[in-house]
Amino acid sequence: MSALHTEILESDSPAATAALAGRVLARLPGRAVLALHGELGSGKTCFVKGLAAAMGLRATVTSPTFTLVHEHRGVRPLVHIDLYRIRDADDAMQLGLEEYLAGEGVCAVEWPERAEVLLPPGTVHLLFEVSAESDRRRITIRWPAGCAA
Ligand SMILES: Nc1ncnc2c1ncn2[C@@H]1O[C@H](COP(=O)(O)OP(=O)(O)O)[C@@H](O)[C@H]1O
Ligand SMILES: [Mg+2]
Repeated sequence: MSALHTEILESDSPAATAALAGRVLARLPGRAVLALHGELGSGKTCFVKGLAAAMGLRATVTSPTFTLVHEHRGVRPLVHIDLYRIRDADDAMQLGLEEYLAGEGVCAVEWPERAEVLLPPGTVHLLFEVSAESDRRRITIRWPAGCAA
């Protein structure tokens, strides 16, 4: 049985969400897949900006809503994927999702439920939720076995 561990974090600003991404990154293995769940505007792309900063990548992170995949090259690459405009796992396979998921570095996927069956077993799932207070977000992390507590 894999021991899943759930953690709930609160963020009160975009900067706090980005900083939180750095702390999540520190606990990931060298190669990791992050599934970022949550409605539009919940902070998923903001979190990826924080990942890029923490990885020392100077690239400007923008939403890959239309381009679907942004590859940020570095010592440890960051691949940022947005499946919002994808229908299902078949479409995602056309896009080459499986290769990205098996690639080096960190692969962050927005709207991962579009292709849930393709996600590898060690995927870290994060759920972003908006609260009544406009700048507040709740981020629930489901750590797979093997990630440092
Ligand atoms: N605590 C917070 N964390 C992240 N984003 C926040 C927060 N508070 C307000 N925001 C705003 O919410 C929006 C989040 O956008 P974005 O990261 O693109 O969302 P998503 O990728 O989930 O659609 C941004 O406009 C950001 O400024
Ligand atoms: Mg986004």
